[in-house]
Amino acid sequence: MELTSLHSRSTFAGKRVLLGVTGGIAAYKAAVLLREFQKLGATVQVVMTEQAQQFVGSMTFAALTNMPVRTSLNDEQAELSMGHIELARWADVFIIAPASANTIAKLAYGIADNLLTTIALASEKPLFVAPAMNQKMWAHTATQENIATLRQRGIAIIGPGNGEQACGDVGSGRMSEPEEIVATIAAQMSADVIQAPELSGSNAEHLPLLGKKVMLTAGPTREPIDPVRYISNHSSGRMGYALAEQFALVGAEVTLVSGPVCLQPPAGVTKVSINSAEQLLAAVMAQISEQDIFVSVAAVADYRPATVAEQKMKKNPAAINSAEKQNLQIELTENPDILRTVSGLMHDRPFCVGFAAETEKVVEHARNKLLNKRLDMICANQVGSEQIGFGDKPNALEVLWQDGSTSIAMTDKTDLARQLVPVITERYCATITS
Ligand code: PMT
Repeated sequence: MELTSLHSRSTFAGKRVLLGVTGGIAAYKAAVLLREFQKLGATVQVVMTEQAQQFVGSMTFAALTNMPVRTSLNDEQAELSMGHIELARWADVFIIAPASANTIAKLAYGIADNLLTTIALASEKPLFVAPAMNQKMWAHTATQENIATLRQRGIAIIGPGNGEQACGDVGSGRMSEPEEIVATIAAQMSADVIQAPELSGSNAEHLPLLGKKVMLTAGPTREPIDPVRYISNHSSGRMGYALAEQFALVGAEVTLVSGPVCLQPPAGVTKVSINSAEQLLAAVMAQISEQDIFVSVAAVADYRPATVAEQKMKKNPAAINSAEKQNLQIELTENPDILRTVSGLMHDRPFCVGFAAETEKVVEHARNKLLNKRLDMICANQVGSEQIGFGDKPNALEVLWQDGSTSIAMTDKTDLARQLVPVITERYCATITS
């Protein structure tokens, strides 16, 4: 996939990007990130902490930008003209990548003991932070509390990613890839035009979902037949998890109620695990009154076995000794419709977004569901073919609401989520202000 798309190009052309680099092995990736911004037409200036210079020399960035790299508050020449304030004003966007645990802690507490953290205090521009550290440091309560503080202030946290780390550990803490950072910033900057009225904080006007509560359901349900068998479907959870990640990236407080899938919850997202449709309903209803937006991506089984056998069901003894095939009937009973239950709430009803998985007449069936389930929006997708739909296959969406629609062309699910979140945000903001 071409992440640095035309969309990113139009976002960054002519923009001034201030790139803060802190200490960590991922500092070398900052040079690649810088080049990505430049390729998209941005002018980049770099500020490095002292620790960052232990990993990459300032000469590297000076050569790439053709500008001096600022490293110290004690630069008499630069500070004669209030250099740190000028830099804060100069930038259209400020990104700290990699952001070490130490710098994140300083940002959270407003400590301004070096040039980079001083600029962060002086800047009113959108700030993006791409953490990079050892997985234990990332998971530490102190770091997580600092990250939560930054998110509450409207600072967008990008990543970190999961995987093998330079220290040999495996887990969450790798700096997101430069292309992903660029695409995420572009997606968020494109939502800038949408403003929610009652938000506060320096990034508030750029992040209308800042502090809003978003609940998503994702993955399949499993409806037990007996202790070892169940009825389910092919949902992998990827679409729901990708959306949860994007909502978290734009500052929402995200709860992901997930059926059994093989995916790690995205950073900063609270996951609640369920198996059956009835468990899904209970988990959703327990917290729904607090939610601003509800997005139902889960592929919920419409029916479940009417009775669940206590022991593993055996073949009919007569069938074992017979060459003749014996049929077995399982009686099914209807499951609760979780989305319909939520959209039918009289009080504290969140903005409701459904998904419709169809094998034919996609738009027609989806419009019926939009009306019958009294939804604010529905995202229709085609399933059942080899090329698109479930799992890591790409998908395309027809997004419908009462008096409008839009299409999102075939792409992978991360990109679909990136494009869909601004659409949901715009409709949500239009609804709450009307
Ligand atoms: O998980 P992936 O592999 O990434 O695949 C993504 C997906 C194809 C599962 C996803 O894009 C999708 O289309 N999800 C909805 C699937 C579905 O069950 O559609 P539906 O037309 O049966 O249901 C309509 C809506 O009602 C859905 O929002 C569904 O979550 C909800 N529903 C349905 C039945 C039920 N008992 N309770 C519900 O809440």
